[in-house]
Amino acid sequence: MNKPKSKAVFICQQCGKESPKWLGRCPGCQEWNSFVETVVTAPAHTATWLYSEENVPQELSHLTTETSPRLVFPLAELNRVLGGGLVFGSLVLVGGDPGIGKSTLLLQASSAVAEKGDRVVYVSGEESSQQIKLRSERLRIGGDRLYILPETNIEVILGRLSELSPNLVVVDSIQTVYLEEMTGAPGSVTQIRECTLRLMRWAKRAEIPVLITGHVTKDGTIAGPRVLEHIVDVVLYLEGETFSSYRILRSNKNRFGSTNEVGVFEMSGGGLVEVANPSEAFLVSHRDGAVGSAVVPTFEGSRPLLVEIQALTSLASFGPPRRIANGVDFNRLLLIAAVLTRRAGVNLSNQDIITNVIGGLRIGEPAADLGIALAIASSHRDAQVVPGLAVLGEVGLSGELRSVPQLERRIAEAARLGFKRCLIPDALSKLTSSVRSIELVTASTVAEALRSGLVRQPRK
Ligand code: TYD
Ligand code: MG
Repeated sequence: MNKPKSKAVFICQQCGKESPKWLGRCPGCQEWNSFVETVVTAPAHTATWLYSEENVPQELSHLTTETSPRLVFPLAELNRVLGGGLVFGSLVLVGGDPGIGKSTLLLQASSAVAEKGDRVVYVSGEESSQQIKLRSERLRIGGDRLYILPETNIEVILGRLSELSPNLVVVDSIQTVYLEEMTGAPGSVTQIRECTLRLMRWAKRAEIPVLITGHVTKDGTIAGPRVLEHIVDVVLYLEGETFSSYRILRSNKNRFGSTNEVGVFEMSGGGLVEVANPSEAFLVSHRDGAVGSAVVPTFEGSRPLLVEIQALTSLASFGPPRRIANGVDFNRLLLIAAVLTRRAGVNLSNQDIITNVIGGLRIGEPAADLGIALAIASSHRDAQVVPGLAVLGEVGLSGELRSVPQLERRIAEAARLGFKRCLIPDALSKLTSSVRSIELVTASTVAEALRSGLVRQPRK
């Protein structure tokens, strides 16, 4: 028998870049000191499936999509993020910080599928069967047709999967599984890549969807397997602040749907609960006409979502003033602060500014600019925001207000939640809104918007 060829290479533990010699800094991801020597054995194994005899070229026009129906979860928020369910044979990564609720979400999803009559295998490399049983009691999961497999050897796992022929497979987590013939500890880049490729091959062959979890932060800094993102079909991130019970499931890559959708959940004593009406949930503790708080109808994917933005300004007592942007983009905060100072007479040059978006949400779209500006100005002037007001508009560098897309649906959402007025850029006033219950207040500049958006008499 031929001895399998082995060679030593250096692999970046951040992005998986290979190099024949050690490098101090990865040319791929610019990370310092991330190369680790790895002996790679039998590389021929890795891609043989790509060239298997079953795969013959077929004309695109002759291919049908009927063979890829979706597994629809009884969890609407999860389906929404996946683009309408899980495509058979797809490999989906659910990433997130440790402890955020990945195992909880997938156990709940597995049990929901099993309850419908399908067979599910939940491979757990992190928790014992006993621990999972305890969790399932907490989640009030019966567990018929839900098989728990506490195993980390990928060959054994694949063997068991073929025996059980399930309808859905969950591997929790990819960092714990390993391939025996591969050097490197479980969780190293080579192991993760190899195990993921094998799961991918299995999923595609068996046409069964596989969900894997990975402890991955957004910037890929903790476990670093950004390599995973290139391999899998769908990358979802479960996010949330530790102090908030809301969890947002975001899609970062989706070969079968839009990446704009988000699902909103709340972590309760009995697991994750879907939040079907996030606007209401995020505005529960909103006080109408509060100082330093503005409500903005933003868009998350295809769904309008009302969020409360809070700001606090205070005299910088020491050193240069600080800006803290929780949930809003830091550079946009700097821009808005500069525009307020130069164009709207709100002098923030010696003020610390703290902004916060309630519920642990992150707002990326410029439509929230005016909301941020109004919250900051309200705090700085200690003036109430006009009660029952929602705010929309992008702020330009000369202090002008720019239009925002999807005005009608945003206004409708604000009206639905009982807002009486909506402050919008002048440019949008031509659009006639069919929403009668809301009064549209227009402004062409930030300064003008502050005049209409803040109660004139400062509070004592
Ligand atoms: P877990 O799913 O284990 O996180 P991950 O797999 O992402 O590491 O979630 C753990 C956290 O969730 C833990 O801090 C406790 C909390 N939790 C609840 O609040 N309610 C519950 O019903 C469950 C099962 C967990
Ligand atoms: Mg877990």
